[in-house]
Amino acid sequence: MTNAEIVELTHQHLVNVYGCLPLAFVEGRGPYLIDADGNRYLDFFCGLAVTSLGHGHPAVVNAIRSQAEKLIHVSNVFHTEPMARLAQRLSGLFHGAKVFFANSGAEVNEAAIKLARHWGAENGGRFEIIAMHNSFHGRTMATLSATGQEKYHHGFEPMLPGITLVNFDDVEAVEAAVTPKTAAVLVEPIQGEGGVVVPKTPEYLARLRKICDRNNLLLMFDEVQVGMGRTGKLFAHEHFGVVPDVMTLAKALGGGLPIGAMLARPEVAATLTPGTHGTTFGGNPVACAAALAVLDTIEKDRLLANATAIGNYLMQELRTIAEQSDQIVEVRGRGMIIGVVMKGEARPIVDACLKQRLILNATAGNVLRLLPPLNLTLEQAQEGITIIRRALSD
Ligand SMILES: Cc1ncc(COP(=O)(O)O)c(C=O)c1O
Repeated sequence: MTNAEIVELTHQHLVNVYGCLPLAFVEGRGPYLIDADGNRYLDFFCGLAVTSLGHGHPAVVNAIRSQAEKLIHVSNVFHTEPMARLAQRLSGLFHGAKVFFANSGAEVNEAAIKLARHWGAENGGRFEIIAMHNSFHGRTMATLSATGQEKYHHGFEPMLPGITLVNFDDVEAVEAAVTPKTAAVLVEPIQGEGGVVVPKTPEYLARLRKICDRNNLLLMFDEVQVGMGRTGKLFAHEHFGVVPDVMTLAKALGGGLPIGAMLARPEVAATLTPGTHGTTFGGNPVACAAALAVLDTIEKDRLLANATAIGNYLMQELRTIAEQSDQIVEVRGRGMIIGVVMKGEARPIVDACLKQRLILNATAGNVLRLLPPLNLTLEQAQEGITIIRRALSD
């Protein structure tokens, strides 16, 4: 089928919730995607921060193939070795936490919100959660309620009660929002969907930690987009020297397969007991095997160092472009999550790049977002920069 045929067939039958681009991909190799008409694109989008090792990485493909040949699904009524091993691995990487597996970012954030409520109920009958304006936590009703962007709430009100939204990067606002009913603070260490917003207050997250300690609240970091090496550290909060009580991961965790993980301090996780929460597919052995391969590859190929070095190169080049252009306000980010803040809408630049076979996306209206694979080479980074420079000058 051609691009046009696939697009047409999709539009006939799919619920129309995505503003899709008229492109259908049939193959991916490393940082390149091939569309149904045979065109090759450089992918600085990674399926929304998911395929962080690029497409068709042999370690991930082999892990999926060999696990699928053995066993694909048994449910959480039973155990599997890949799930046990992945839980052990993640726990070892995050302070001996206990792990709950689900299938998406929204689901693990939903789990975190439910954990906070259950824990709060047992700790003084508390249920309120403080979350941030401009955040994104998912599309289920609880995660949507915690998503501080009104445009996503329209038509779905009323939102879940007990969620207070305050400005990101504003410690005093959090302090003022704490009530005797507050159980937790939920925040992205760097806001992704909101426009790649890095807290400007250097002590922001550390001060949230202090507020949580003082008031016996759970500090919960949504690392669904910025976790798994995206920022040049395995977890974004490592840049800020702050350890949360609860952390959520998804997107890049499974190398392209749907998997999410909520990690919680064991004493906190203990509030959830058999029957209190669950999911049929969570911890699927094929997805867990893929995630183990992703973690192995990040370590073996030193991808955190590469993400830092190539991310810095990209940001430096983009800043040079910004100096020569009157269209760019700011270049910001960490490692391989980069936001180019435009004076006007970012979408025309996305379209211009796409015409020249570079995929990136626009978020928050005026922010061009780059999410390249962590193993991007310098040559591939230069290829992307050349296209962006050309797209801007056009
Ligand atoms: C920070 C963050 N949390 C949660 C989500 C929701 O993840 P999912 O789309 O897998 O439900 C996203 C998705 O973009 C995200 O960026």
